Amino acid sequence: MKKPDTLAAATWLISSALLEVEDLEAALTNTLDVISTQLKAEGGAIWILNEDTGTLHCAACTGPLDLMGVSFESGIGTEGKVVSTETSVFLAETEKTESFEGDIFDDQGLKTRSLICVPLNDLKKTIGCMCLVTARGGSLFTEEDLKICEHTSALAAMVIDEKGFSVYLPPEKPVLMELKGITKEFLSGEEVLKVLQGINLKIFKNEFVVVLGESGCGKSTMMNIIGGMDRATSGTIELEGMNFTAPNEKALTEFRRSYIGFIFQSYNLMPNLTARENIQFIAEISENPGNVDDALAMVGLTDRAGNFPSQLSGGQQQRISIARAIVKNPHIILADEPTAALDFKTGQEVLRVIESIVQKGNTTVLMVTHNVEIAKMADRVVKLRSGKVSSIKYNAHPLHANELVW
Ligand SMILES: Nc1ncnc2c1ncn2[C@@H]1O[C@H](COP(=O)(O)OP(=O)(O)OP(=O)(O)O)[C@@H](O)[C@H]1O
Ligand SMILES: [Mg+2]
Repeated sequence: MKKPDTLAAATWLISSALLEVEDLEAALTNTLDVISTQLKAEGGAIWILNEDTGTLHCAACTGPLDLMGVSFESGIGTEGKVVSTETSVFLAETEKTESFEGDIFDDQGLKTRSLICVPLNDLKKTIGCMCLVTARGGSLFTEEDLKICEHTSALAAMVIDEKGFSVYLPPEKPVLMELKGITKEFLSGEEVLKVLQGINLKIFKNEFVVVLGESGCGKSTMMNIIGGMDRATSGTIELEGMNFTAPNEKALTEFRRSYIGFIFQSYNLMPNLTARENIQFIAEISENPGNVDDALAMVGLTDRAGNFPSQLSGGQQQRISIARAIVKNPHIILADEPTAALDFKTGQEVLRVIESIVQKGNTTVLMVTHNVEIAKMADRVVKLRSGKVSSIKYNAHPLHANELVW
C-alpha cells in the first residue's frame, strides 16, 4: 500500500479499520496493521492501563513480536512515561537520543530505530498508549506520522470508551513473596552504585519464572536479596503476607535452610563427599527434608550415588546440585544461570529436571538465564532493565524442555 499524501486519507483508512469490526480486540489489531503499513512501521502495540494495579497490558499488537501477555508498570520505560505524563514521545532516531532508556520492543528483542508513542486519551483521562516502531536498518518516522498516530489514538480511545475494554488477567496464585520498591546500592570506591532502583515483584506459589536482562542489570543481586543472602538498601519484602524486610538472624537462618533452595552456575558440590553424601548433608541440616534417594532418582542419578563430583560430568554435577536443592523441600528454588556452563543436550536434561520439580506442584522456581529460548518454558518472564522490572510476560502456552532448541 502506498503512503497516503494527506493526513486525512490516512485517518480515513484507519477509522474504517477501527469501526468496521465488531470485536474490539480485532479492530485494534486491524488498526495497528493498517497504520503500520501506512507508516512502514515494523512493530506496533496498544497498551491499556489497569487502574487498580497501575499496570499496562497489551491489548493488541502487530509485527514480528508477540506482546500479548506482556505487562509493565506505568512510569517505566518510554511507554510507561507516556502514560504517566500523558504526553506523546516522538524519537526520530533512538540512537541519537541520549534520554532514550529503552522500550518494550527493545526488551522483547526488536531493537528500535525510530519510535512514536502517543497516549490514548478518552474524555477524562489517559487509558493507555499506542506505540509504533521501526527496527534498526528501517526507515525514520516523520512529524506527519506523529500526527497520524495522535489522530488514530484519539479515535481508538473513543471507540474503546464506547465499547469498553477489559484486559484479560490470568488468575493469580497465592503470593509467596512480594518485593516492594527494593533498592540496592553498593559502594565502589567513592562512588555509589545504584544497582536495584525500585523492584516491584510478586512471586507466586508453584510457578516457573524466568528472569532475563543484560549483564550487570542486577539479576544476581535481586536473587541474593530474595534468598536472604544479602539485604536491600531500602524497600520492603513480604513473606506470605508478613513483613520480612529485616528478619532477625534466627528467622533468616531458618528461611535459608528450609524455605529456599539454591542452584548456581558453578555446582559448588563438596569434592570430598560422594553424590549421595552431598545431598544427605543438606537433608540433615534441613527442617523438613525429603528422601535422599528420591531426590537422586528425580534427577536420574541413582546409579551414580557413590561417585565423587570429579567423577561426574558437568551436567551430572548440576543435577546433583538440583537434588541437593530439592531434598530440602523448599518453597522457592533460586537458580542463577544453571545451564550456562552446559552444552545443549546436558542443559536440556537439567531443564527437564527443573520442569518436573514445578510439575510436582509445591515449588516455585525462579531462574536467571541469558538464553531467551529457555524463557519459552516459563509461566512468566520477568525482564530487568537498569535495576527495575521493565516488563513481565505471561506465556499462555509454555513449552516443554524437550521442545526447546538453541
Ligand atoms: N558486592 C558488590 N559490590 C560492589 N558492586 C557489586 C557487588 N555485587 C554486584 N555489584 C555490581 O552490581 C551490578 C549488578 O550485578 P549483578 O551481579 O546483579 O548483575 P547480573 O545482572 O547478575 O549480571 P550477569 O548477567 O553478568 O550475571 C554490577 O555492576 C556489579 O558490578
Ligand atoms: Mg548474575
